[in-house]
Amino acid sequence: MPDLDYSRELSFHPKLVQQLFFMLNALMTSVSSNVLSAQTGGQGTKAELYRIVAEQLQSLIRAESDWIANLANAAALNFQSLPDLNWAGFYLLKDGELVVGPFQGKVACVRIQIGKGACGTAAETRKTVIVPDVHEFPGHIACDSASRSEIVVPLIRENELIGVLDLDSPSLGRFDDEDAVGLEAVAMVLAGSNAGNAENAGIAGNRKRRCDHDFAGRVRASARPEPHERHADELRRRDARSARL
Ligand code: SME
Repeated sequence: MPDLDYSRELSFHPKLVQQLFFMLNALMTSVSSNVLSAQTGGQGTKAELYRIVAEQLQSLIRAESDWIANLANAAALNFQSLPDLNWAGFYLLKDGELVVGPFQGKVACVRIQIGKGACGTAAETRKTVIVPDVHEFPGHIACDSASRSEIVVPLIRENELIGVLDLDSPSLGRFDDEDAVGLEAVAMVLAGSNAGNAENAGIAGNRKRRCDHDFAGRVRASARPEPHERHADELRRRDARSARL
Protein backbone atom coordinates (compact mmCIF):
# COMPACT_ATOMS: atom_id res chain seq x y z
CA MET A 1 0.00 0.00 0.00
CA PRO A 2 1.53 3.35 -1.05
CA ASP A 3 1.99 5.96 1.62
CA LEU A 4 -0.53 8.72 1.17
CA ASP A 5 0.55 12.21 2.03
CA TYR A 6 -2.35 13.93 3.77
CA SER A 7 -0.26 16.83 4.91
CA ARG A 8 -0.63 18.80 1.67
CA GLU A 9 -3.49 21.26 1.90
CA LEU A 10 -5.95 21.57 -0.93
CA SER A 11 -5.45 25.00 -2.39
CA PHE A 12 -7.14 26.82 -5.23
CA HIS A 13 -5.77 29.73 -7.13
CA PRO A 14 -7.82 32.83 -6.20
CA LYS A 15 -8.43 33.58 -9.91
CA LEU A 16 -9.95 30.11 -10.35
CA VAL A 17 -12.21 30.59 -7.35
CA GLN A 18 -13.27 33.97 -8.73
CA GLN A 19 -13.98 32.50 -12.15
CA LEU A 20 -15.99 29.64 -10.63
CA PHE A 21 -17.97 32.20 -8.64
CA PHE A 22 -18.74 34.27 -11.76
CA MET A 23 -19.77 31.12 -13.67
CA LEU A 24 -22.07 30.04 -10.84
CA ASN A 25 -23.55 33.50 -10.60
CA ALA A 26 -24.16 33.64 -14.37
CA LEU A 27 -25.77 30.19 -14.23
CA MET A 28 -28.05 31.21 -11.36
CA THR A 29 -29.05 34.41 -13.18
CA SER A 30 -29.82 32.51 -16.34
CA VAL A 31 -31.78 29.81 -14.45
CA SER A 32 -33.72 32.50 -12.62
CA SER A 33 -34.63 34.42 -15.77
CA ASN A 34 -35.48 31.20 -17.62
CA VAL A 35 -37.74 30.15 -14.77
CA LEU A 36 -39.44 33.54 -14.89
CA SER A 37 -39.74 33.33 -18.66
CA ALA A 38 -41.18 29.80 -18.42
CA GLN A 39 -43.56 30.87 -15.67
CA THR A 40 -44.84 33.73 -17.80
CA GLY A 41 -45.20 31.48 -20.85
CA GLY A 42 -42.06 32.84 -22.50
CA GLN A 43 -43.81 36.07 -23.44
CA GLY A 44 -44.98 37.25 -20.07
CA THR A 45 -46.43 40.64 -19.57
CA LYS A 46 -44.96 43.06 -17.09
CA ALA A 47 -47.92 42.46 -14.80
CA GLU A 48 -47.22 38.70 -14.79
CA LEU A 49 -43.54 39.28 -14.17
CA TYR A 50 -44.28 41.51 -11.19
CA ARG A 51 -46.83 39.01 -9.87
CA ILE A 52 -44.16 36.31 -9.95
CA VAL A 53 -41.56 38.58 -8.37
CA ALA A 54 -43.99 39.49 -5.57
CA GLU A 55 -44.77 35.80 -5.02
CA GLN A 56 -41.10 34.85 -4.97
CA LEU A 57 -40.38 37.66 -2.55
CA GLN A 58 -43.22 36.51 -0.32
CA SER A 59 -41.72 33.00 -0.16
CA LEU A 60 -38.23 34.39 0.40
CA ILE A 61 -39.17 36.54 3.36
CA ARG A 62 -42.04 34.51 4.87
CA ALA A 63 -39.87 32.66 7.34
CA GLU A 64 -37.35 35.40 7.99
CA SER A 65 -37.88 38.23 10.44
CA ASP A 66 -34.68 40.17 9.81
CA TRP A 67 -35.62 43.30 7.87
CA ILE A 68 -32.15 43.97 6.42
CA ALA A 69 -31.76 40.34 5.28
CA ASN A 70 -35.13 40.55 3.55
CA LEU A 71 -34.28 43.86 1.89
CA ALA A 72 -30.96 42.41 0.70
CA ASN A 73 -32.73 39.47 -0.94
CA ALA A 74 -35.40 41.76 -2.35
CA ALA A 75 -32.72 43.97 -3.95
CA ALA A 76 -31.06 40.90 -5.49
CA LEU A 77 -34.38 39.48 -6.69
CA ASN A 78 -35.37 42.77 -8.36
CA PHE A 79 -31.94 43.22 -9.93
CA GLN A 80 -31.89 39.68 -11.35
CA SER A 81 -35.53 39.42 -12.40
CA LEU A 82 -36.34 42.82 -13.88
CA PRO A 83 -34.70 43.62 -17.19
CA ASP A 84 -32.59 46.65 -18.08
CA LEU A 85 -31.53 47.88 -14.63
CA ASN A 86 -28.20 49.22 -13.44
CA TRP A 87 -29.18 49.80 -9.80
CA ALA A 88 -31.79 48.22 -7.52
CA GLY A 89 -32.05 48.86 -3.84
CA PHE A 90 -33.46 50.73 -0.89
CA TYR A 91 -33.05 53.92 1.09
CA LEU A 92 -34.28 53.72 4.68
CA LEU A 93 -35.67 56.54 6.79
CA LYS A 94 -33.36 57.13 9.74
CA ASP A 95 -33.58 60.19 11.99
CA GLY A 96 -35.51 62.18 9.42
CA GLU A 97 -33.37 61.46 6.36
CA LEU A 98 -32.89 58.63 3.88
CA VAL A 99 -29.84 56.41 4.33
CA VAL A 100 -28.78 53.88 1.74
CA GLY A 101 -29.82 50.31 2.54
CA PRO A 102 -29.22 46.99 0.80
CA PHE A 103 -28.72 47.33 -2.95
CA GLN A 104 -27.18 45.85 -6.09
CA GLY A 105 -25.24 48.07 -8.45
CA LYS A 106 -22.52 50.67 -8.24
CA VAL A 107 -21.73 52.43 -4.96
CA ALA A 108 -24.39 55.01 -4.17
CA CYS A 109 -24.84 58.28 -2.31
CA VAL A 110 -25.30 57.48 1.36
CA ARG A 111 -27.73 60.12 2.65
CA ILE A 112 -30.58 61.91 0.90
CA GLN A 113 -32.67 64.64 2.50
CA ILE A 114 -36.43 64.32 2.43
CA GLY A 115 -37.68 66.36 -0.54
CA LYS A 116 -34.38 66.11 -2.44
CA GLY A 117 -33.89 64.12 -5.62
CA ALA A 118 -36.25 61.40 -6.83
CA CYS A 119 -35.91 59.42 -3.60
CA GLY A 120 -36.49 62.37 -1.31
CA THR A 121 -39.48 63.45 -3.43
CA ALA A 122 -41.08 59.99 -3.20
CA ALA A 123 -40.44 60.00 0.55
CA GLU A 124 -41.93 63.47 0.98
CA THR A 125 -45.02 62.93 -1.17
CA ARG A 126 -45.40 59.24 -0.27
CA LYS A 127 -46.17 58.70 -3.93
CA THR A 128 -44.34 56.72 -6.55
CA VAL A 129 -42.08 58.93 -8.65
CA ILE A 130 -41.36 57.97 -12.25
CA VAL A 131 -38.45 59.81 -13.83
CA PRO A 132 -38.47 59.12 -17.60
CA ASP A 133 -35.26 61.12 -18.12
CA VAL A 134 -33.02 61.84 -15.14
CA HIS A 135 -31.50 64.85 -16.90
CA GLU A 136 -34.93 66.49 -17.04
CA PHE A 137 -35.70 65.96 -13.35
CA PRO A 138 -34.65 69.05 -11.40
CA GLY A 139 -32.50 68.17 -8.43
CA HIS A 140 -31.92 64.60 -9.57
CA ILE A 141 -29.10 63.05 -7.55
CA ALA A 142 -26.77 61.18 -9.87
CA CYS A 143 -25.10 58.17 -8.28
CA ASP A 144 -24.28 56.18 -11.41
CA SER A 145 -23.64 58.17 -14.59
CA ALA A 146 -25.11 55.26 -16.57
CA SER A 147 -28.59 55.90 -15.14
CA ARG A 148 -31.03 57.45 -17.63
CA SER A 149 -34.39 56.78 -15.98
CA GLU A 150 -35.57 55.90 -12.51
CA ILE A 151 -38.54 54.85 -10.41
CA VAL A 152 -38.90 55.31 -6.67
CA VAL A 153 -41.67 53.69 -4.61
CA PRO A 154 -42.29 54.65 -0.98
CA LEU A 155 -42.31 51.89 1.63
CA ILE A 156 -45.14 52.57 4.04
CA ARG A 157 -45.97 50.49 7.07
CA GLU A 158 -48.86 51.22 9.36
CA ASN A 159 -49.18 54.70 7.89
CA GLU A 160 -45.53 55.52 8.47
CA LEU A 161 -42.85 55.99 5.87
CA ILE A 162 -40.01 53.53 6.51
CA GLY A 163 -37.99 54.01 3.33
CA VAL A 164 -38.11 53.85 -0.45
CA LEU A 165 -37.49 51.23 -3.11
CA ASP A 166 -35.35 52.64 -5.93
CA LEU A 167 -34.61 51.25 -9.39
CA ASP A 168 -32.37 52.87 -12.01
CA SER A 169 -32.12 51.97 -15.69
CA PRO A 170 -29.56 52.83 -18.36
CA SER A 171 -32.48 53.29 -20.82
CA LEU A 172 -34.61 56.41 -21.21
CA GLY A 173 -38.28 55.95 -20.27
CA ARG A 174 -37.70 52.46 -18.91
CA PHE A 175 -40.48 52.72 -16.27
CA ASP A 176 -44.20 53.26 -16.78
CA ASP A 177 -47.40 52.93 -14.80
CA GLU A 178 -47.33 49.14 -15.05
CA ASP A 179 -43.94 49.16 -13.35
CA ALA A 180 -45.33 51.49 -10.70
CA VAL A 181 -48.26 49.19 -9.98
CA GLY A 182 -46.06 46.06 -9.95
CA LEU A 183 -43.43 47.63 -7.71
CA GLU A 184 -46.02 49.04 -5.36
CA ALA A 185 -47.24 45.46 -4.86
CA VAL A 186 -43.63 44.40 -4.19
CA ALA A 187 -43.30 47.28 -1.70
CA MET A 188 -46.51 46.17 0.02
CA VAL A 189 -45.11 42.65 0.43
CA LEU A 190 -41.95 44.06 2.00
CA ALA A 191 -43.47 46.72 4.19
CA GLY A 192 -46.26 44.40 5.23
CA SER A 193 -43.83 41.74 6.40
CA ASN A 194 -43.42 41.36 10.16
CA ALA A 195 -39.84 42.42 9.72
CA GLY A 196 -40.77 45.89 8.53
CA ASN A 197 -41.20 47.37 11.96
CA ALA A 198 -39.09 50.23 13.24
CA GLU A 199 -37.38 48.27 16.02
CA ASN A 200 -36.22 45.52 13.71
CA ALA A 201 -35.06 48.01 11.12
CA GLY A 202 -33.09 49.93 13.69
CA ILE A 203 -35.07 53.04 12.86
CA ALA A 204 -37.07 53.31 16.05
CA GLY A 205 -35.95 56.91 16.48
CA ASN A 206 -37.75 58.11 13.34
CA ARG A 207 -40.02 61.06 13.73
CA LYS A 208 -43.60 59.87 13.26
CA ARG A 209 -44.94 61.18 9.97
CA ARG A 210 -48.60 61.04 9.06
CA CYS A 211 -49.39 59.33 5.84
CA ASP A 212 -52.11 60.34 3.46
CA HIS A 213 -51.48 57.29 1.34
CA ASP A 214 -54.05 54.58 0.84
CA PHE A 215 -53.54 51.23 -0.78
CA ALA A 216 -56.18 51.67 -3.48
CA GLY A 217 -54.79 55.08 -4.40
CA ARG A 218 -51.35 53.65 -4.95
CA VAL A 219 -52.17 50.58 -6.95
CA ARG A 220 -55.13 51.60 -9.10
CA ALA A 221 -53.45 52.35 -12.38
CA SER A 222 -56.56 54.02 -13.76
CA ALA A 223 -56.51 56.52 -10.91
CA ARG A 224 -52.93 57.48 -11.54
CA PRO A 225 -51.92 60.45 -13.64
CA GLU A 226 -49.86 59.68 -16.72
CA PRO A 227 -46.12 59.63 -16.02
CA HIS A 228 -45.58 62.91 -17.91
CA GLU A 229 -48.39 64.52 -15.88
CA ARG A 230 -46.81 63.22 -12.73
CA HIS A 231 -43.49 64.67 -13.78
CA ALA A 232 -45.15 68.00 -14.59
CA ASP A 233 -46.76 67.90 -11.12
CA GLU A 234 -43.33 67.39 -9.58
CA LEU A 235 -42.01 70.40 -11.50
CA ARG A 236 -44.93 72.57 -10.39
CA ARG A 237 -44.48 71.51 -6.77
CA ARG A 238 -40.79 72.26 -6.94
CA ASP A 239 -41.38 75.68 -8.45
CA ALA A 240 -43.89 76.48 -5.71
CA ARG A 241 -41.41 75.32 -3.07
CA SER A 242 -38.56 77.43 -4.41
CA ALA A 243 -40.90 80.43 -4.71
CA ARG A 244 -41.73 80.05 -1.01
CA LEU A 245 -38.04 80.04 -0.03
N1 SME B 1 -31.09 59.18 -8.19
C1 SME B 1 -31.57 59.14 -6.84
C2 SME B 1 -30.43 58.88 -5.87
C3 SME B 1 -30.22 57.44 -5.57
S1 SME B 1 -29.43 56.61 -6.79
O1 SME B 1 -30.15 56.65 -8.04
C4 SME B 1 -29.06 55.10 -6.33
C5 SME B 1 -32.30 60.43 -6.49
O2 SME B 1 -32.34 61.35 -7.30
O3 SME B 1 -32.83 60.50 -5.39
